[in-house]
Amino acid sequence: MPVLLLATALLASFVNANDTGTSNSGSTFVIKNNIFLKDGSPVQLISGSFHYYRIHPAYWRDRLLRAQALGLNTIQTYVPWNLHEPSPGKYNWEGYANLTGFLQVAANLGLNVLLRAGPYICGEWDFGGLPWWLAFPGVAGGARLQSRSTDARFLKLAEGWWNVLLPRVAPFLHKNGGPILMVQVENEYGYCGNDREYIRHLLRTATAALGHDVVFYTTDPPSLAEAGSLPGNELYTVVDFGPLADAAEAFKAQAAMNDPGMSPPFCSEFYTGWITHFGEKMANTSANDLVASLRAILQYANGTGSVNFYMAHGGSNWGFWAGSGGTDGEFLPQLTSYDYDAPISEAGGSGQPGIGGKNKFQMIREAISNHTGNALPEEPPLPPAHAFGPVHMTARVSLMDSLPDLAPGDGIPAFKPAAMESYGQPHGVIIYRTVLSVGALIGGGALDFGGPVHDYAQVMLDGKVVATLERSCPRVVRLPEILVFLSDVTVLDIVVHAMGRNSGGCDWDLKGIIYPNVLLNGRVLYNWRVFPIPLSEAPTRLFNSTISHAAASSRHLLGVLHDALLTNQEQHAAQPRGEGVGEVGGDVQPGAEHGLEPAQAGRQAPQLGGTRNCRAWPQAGGPVEGPVMFRGYFTVGGSDVSERGHPPDTWVDMRGWGKGLLWVNGFNLGWYWPLLGPQMRIYVPGPLLHEGSNEILLLEFAQLPDNATVVLEDKPDFYEPGD
Ligand SMILES: *[C@@H]1O[C@H](CO)[C@@H](O)[C@H](O)[C@H]1NC(C)=O
Ligand SMILES: *[C@@H]1O[C@H](CO)[C@@H](O)[C@H](O)[C@H]1NC(C)=O
Ligand SMILES: *[C@@H]1O[C@H](CO)[C@@H](O)[C@H](O)[C@H]1NC(C)=O
Ligand SMILES: *[C@@H]1O[C@H](CO)[C@@H](O)[C@H](O)[C@H]1NC(C)=O
Ligand SMILES: *[C@@H]1O[C@H](CO)[C@@H](O)[C@H](O)[C@H]1NC(C)=O
Ligand SMILES: *[C@@H]1O[C@H](CO)[C@@H](O)[C@H](O)[C@H]1NC(C)=O
Ligand SMILES: *[C@@H]1O[C@H](CO)[C@@H](O)[C@H](O)[C@H]1NC(C)=O
Repeated sequence: MPVLLLATALLASFVNANDTGTSNSGSTFVIKNNIFLKDGSPVQLISGSFHYYRIHPAYWRDRLLRAQALGLNTIQTYVPWNLHEPSPGKYNWEGYANLTGFLQVAANLGLNVLLRAGPYICGEWDFGGLPWWLAFPGVAGGARLQSRSTDARFLKLAEGWWNVLLPRVAPFLHKNGGPILMVQVENEYGYCGNDREYIRHLLRTATAALGHDVVFYTTDPPSLAEAGSLPGNELYTVVDFGPLADAAEAFKAQAAMNDPGMSPPFCSEFYTGWITHFGEKMANTSANDLVASLRAILQYANGTGSVNFYMAHGGSNWGFWAGSGGTDGEFLPQLTSYDYDAPISEAGGSGQPGIGGKNKFQMIREAISNHTGNALPEEPPLPPAHAFGPVHMTARVSLMDSLPDLAPGDGIPAFKPAAMESYGQPHGVIIYRTVLSVGALIGGGALDFGGPVHDYAQVMLDGKVVATLERSCPRVVRLPEILVFLSDVTVLDIVVHAMGRNSGGCDWDLKGIIYPNVLLNGRVLYNWRVFPIPLSEAPTRLFNSTISHAAASSRHLLGVLHDALLTNQEQHAAQPRGEGVGEVGGDVQPGAEHGLEPAQAGRQAPQLGGTRNCRAWPQAGGPVEGPVMFRGYFTVGGSDVSERGHPPDTWVDMRGWGKGLLWVNGFNLGWYWPLLGPQMRIYVPGPLLHEGSNEILLLEFAQLPDNATVVLEDKPDFYEPGD
């Protein structure tokens, strides 16, 4: 849009009390006397967060109509950099990544939009929206950069992204006739750092692309605004807080950051519910507290307080996009459902009772309507849902047998294992393979990983699982004694799967084996073959493969791993048994071996053994052959297709299964994990289905039910521990 941008720059007017509000479309949005003026008239923003990438595009309009029934005049969304630039310079704007498509739907309904442009967003999203490839040494500056800082290597990549994003959204700015009123830079930066030059740098980039006559803002909790934002009139500082906070105090802290007259009170994340991690009780927060605090915000300063509900509608964390929280000692992966206990539930409904039996949606709607005095549109009818019943998984194939298909070739040679990012792998499963000499396991063995694996692993000997590991649990596993040999080698495979990266985005959360010294009875194991299995597409083809997997696998092994055998044998011979664990290789710098993984260099192994004890793997009953892929089909009849033009919504009940990934018709719906709960059913939006035969694929890691069946139900089920 070069012409448009030029016009914008020439007409640049400043967003402050001196502003006359000129622009090329005659549309203005400015701040004056502590209020927002849209086209010269005061406006109170009653907003809610909707993340287009957590909602099926066919439901964007449905959910936004619910926003209007809730009483909202505005919506706020993040823009996740990693979704849109999945690999450097390759952009994705399709399907649920169709940002401008979503902006158009909002515009058509007359909703205002607040755009949180990143580059960091948090949002309980993988790496807080930063791309995994920032940790890839194959990218200029990658792996060594400091994210969310003035590190020129980071800024160059972040700016490169913004120079693609911002021109795309420029036509949707209010001044250009579109719905976007304000643009947020960074997010809750105060949690991460206090580098004001970083925020200034982002602001300059945004201003250069979008013009001076746009309101740019930051969001931080009141106590962190000083660190996370810029004081004075460089930009507009906004705060966030929940129903139990003192709104007046928060708005005073906000006003202290902004110039006099330039601080319309605005809470840009007013929490309607909360995040739920696997293994926790589903969030269930009080509608009474929420509405009491909402009134305080809306009535603040003679009824000029603005609010954004976080979330108004949460949606779902599909694919590998769910982030994680916590630390190595207590690792907390996000639930696949991002229902958030928000007023509009994951499937669009609003009738579920909250604490005290009150319906949050109805209460918020009434409070808003009371405040504005406006009648509100009715909620649209709920999209239909259907219980299709049991689906038997009729085909199965093991991941290890499929290795020649999934990762053709001999694997990547490595003296020692490194993080998956080092090999250019974004997510999924990574297998590290080496061989042990015959004598290595006489008397059994202690396999010491030196630190946590990221995030869950199965240890296999000669194709059979002998131990499991998880990130927050002890890092030394016992290997069984092997006395009888069919061949001269014992193959050791470490099968690691990654959950989402920490959403903090300040520090790396590398995946796979990130401590390179894996010790067997105190000796470092050398010469590995690494097999990255990113699972970027549904692995349907495995079921049709013509390769004789078992034969291919073993041929493969004996050839390529001969070197490893020799090395690990020499090691074994050269070092007396019983040498102290951790001493050998103690002088080896992590990450120094082949310059591949500086991102993990110097990392100290943390203390493990969090309170969230180790329960990701069941004691028994896990698949002995490692992860297993299953496939089944179900039929949608013509009469199931509603007047909406697509089949009804459904939920896949995963009871009886352990943990894994679920695809429906090739669409990755994310992780299921009924072993930990609380989400027992995975939401399947109807638009993913079609009349006729529909395919369910799952990759199970932890537990196989006898019946190999899933059940399609017509409502969600968030199991309460103790129920
Ligand atoms: C308004 O303009 C005057 C004179 O140009 C300037 O001194 C003042 O700083 C401006 N006010 C704001 C809030 O920018
Ligand atoms: C995004 O959505 C718009 C509006 O529905 C559509 O015209 C456009 O083709 C979509 N873009 C992509 C890349 O799918
Ligand atoms: C509310 O309005 C009154 C009367 O216009 C004014 O005196 C007072 O300062 C206003 N209060 C706030 C917090 O803006
Ligand atoms: C929340 O708690 C109430 C009881 O206070 C209960 O009726 C409701 O089912 C709970 N909701 C969820 C989603 O667990
Ligand atoms: C809305 O106003 C009515 C009438 O004053 C009152 O009874 C009701 O409690 C209010 N509702 C909310 C949620 O504020
Ligand atoms: C794979 O096998 C299924 C069922 O046997 C069949 O319907 C499908 O067409 C096959 N796909 C390919 C790509 O061969
Ligand atoms: C399958 O078995 C599991 C227990 O392993 C049970 O919870 C589930 O209800 C069974 N499903 C069907 C359809 O029988």
